[in-house]
Formats: sequence, C-alpha cells, structure tokens
Amino acid sequence: MILWNWYFHVGLHSETIHMYNITFKFEQKGLEPITLKNIESDQSILEVALKNHIELHHNCGGVCACSTCHLYVEQGDNLIEELSDKEEDFIDRAVNPRINSRLGCQCMLLDGAGNITVTLPDQTQFLGE
Ligand code: FES
Repeated sequence: MILWNWYFHVGLHSETIHMYNITFKFEQKGLEPITLKNIESDQSILEVALKNHIELHHNCGGVCACSTCHLYVEQGDNLIEELSDKEEDFIDRAVNPRINSRLGCQCMLLDGAGNITVTLPDQTQFLGE
C-alpha cells in the first residue's frame, strides 16, 4: 500500500511537471490573448497553435523554409529549442523581425515545464496557409 501510494504520487507529480502553459497574444486588432494549459513537450508552438485552432500561417509546412510562422517569444525562451543558423536566415526575411523573433515551427518545447508567452504578428497580410 505504501509503495502504491508512493508510485501514485510520483507518477502524478511527474505528469504535472512536464506541462506548459502557453499564452498566445495577437497584434491583429480585435483578438484577445488565449492561454492554453497542460501542453505537453516534444511539439512545436506551431503544432500547438494549429491543434487549438489558432491561426498561424505555415506555407512551407513547418520545415524551416519560409518565414510565415514568424512570432515573438515574450517569455520562456529557455523552454524551447535554441535558434539555429537556418532559422535565423529565414527570420531575417520575415516582416518586422525583432530580437525575440522565432519561427513557430522551430520552437520545439523542451522536456520541462513552465510558462511561455508568444505574440503573433498581424497575419492578415499573408496569403495561403
Ligand atoms: S512554416 Fe515555414 S518556416 Fe515555419
């Protein structure tokens, strides 16, 4: 019984600590921030957005070959995979890049937990997916 209680407690705890809360903010007028809770690691912020019906363009299909999934990481950049040289090249071609610019498809959630906040640029100027 003691062992079962220990297992149950640890199991529950480890499940809890590998979850993220991700807040999406929008530069597009009229869109309110959305906070998603209990998001699992090992997926990109683009994938999280799409699964939750948050529109984020992804013209290349999420393979770091365009810049339409461009976003700004406001909080929690230590919780996502580091910027690669290739990603940096495409960020340079994005509209209005900033120091905290990332490509949503390259923001893989690391194994861990915490709060992440991203801001999506106004995407109404883009065509396609
Ligand atoms: S979807 Fe093309 S770079 Fe992210």
